[in-house]
Amino acid sequence: MDNAFVRARKLAEEKTTDRQERNRIWWETLPMTYRSWEEGDRIVRDASGFSALEHDYLEGNPWMKANYDFSAAKEKDTLEIGCGAGAASCLFARNGARHTAVDLTEQAVKITSDNAKAQNLAMRVQRMDAEKLEFPDNSFDHVFAWGVLHHSQDTMACFRQVSRVLRPGGTGLIMVYYKYSIRYWVRGLQGLIGKGLIFKGYNMQSVQGYFTDGYYQRHFSKTELRRMLGECGLKVTNFSVSHMKSKYIRPLPTFMDPWLKRNWGWLVIAEFKKPA
Ligand SMILES: C[S@@+](CC[C@H](N)C(=O)[O-])C[C@H]1O[C@@H](n2cnc3c(N)ncnc32)[C@H](O)[C@@H]1O
Repeated sequence: MDNAFVRARKLAEEKTTDRQERNRIWWETLPMTYRSWEEGDRIVRDASGFSALEHDYLEGNPWMKANYDFSAAKEKDTLEIGCGAGAASCLFARNGARHTAVDLTEQAVKITSDNAKAQNLAMRVQRMDAEKLEFPDNSFDHVFAWGVLHHSQDTMACFRQVSRVLRPGGTGLIMVYYKYSIRYWVRGLQGLIGKGLIFKGYNMQSVQGYFTDGYYQRHFSKTELRRMLGECGLKVTNFSVSHMKSKYIRPLPTFMDPWLKRNWGWLVIAEFKKPA
């Protein structure tokens, strides 16, 4: 039952009782580089590795490749929260944005800075907690956080910060895990009943940590997201449900795949606006 996720969790719990520090240690131990989680050395170091990483990022996230227009950020002040290895941040910078990337971990700041430098891209990269952004109010035209804010210990605090640093009329996009996804329920039941983790005190929420990245990995419904973002003064303009590139349920016919992903995929994407 041991795996890289469980080992990173144990390490974080041995080192501290601080909730956000546990989150940070988890991601320092297993930085997001799109390489196998079980690979000993997951760090990208050279220019060809960095360009492969951007390719993997777009190929691995088909919704983004098909729907998200990085060129719309040209000459705008953009912020990526939780930049990981910096693939999206490099795409923002390459498309002419005045870009800032932040992440909770030293590892991500280093990898993103190396990635930008290797490709001669200008951006600010800073270590920062999404729950306590250090930027003045109304600093950015667009805020982007792909697969990040559900990993923080207090997602609502992150949403408040997103709203605060966004200019009136500014836009944003967040992707978090979707509660009504097949993955959440099927993998959850497999863990609880198949692996017997229910007898060790796990529930549907906590068992996700056995097979999902992050010290925290919250899953949200669209209704919850609309309410939470609304309470922070952000108006959702569009919801999409999507999934990664790999086939969702292997035994089912391929033609069902897009439909399953569109309705019960694991990723829910909220695009929003801060009213002017
Ligand atoms: C799943 S990775 C996603 C990375 C990148 N957005 C991507 O799609 O490749 C989650 C990232 O969020 C960062 N993170 C988690 N909690 C954070 C917080 N409170 N503030 C800033 N970054 C955070 C982690 O360090 C990690 O780099």
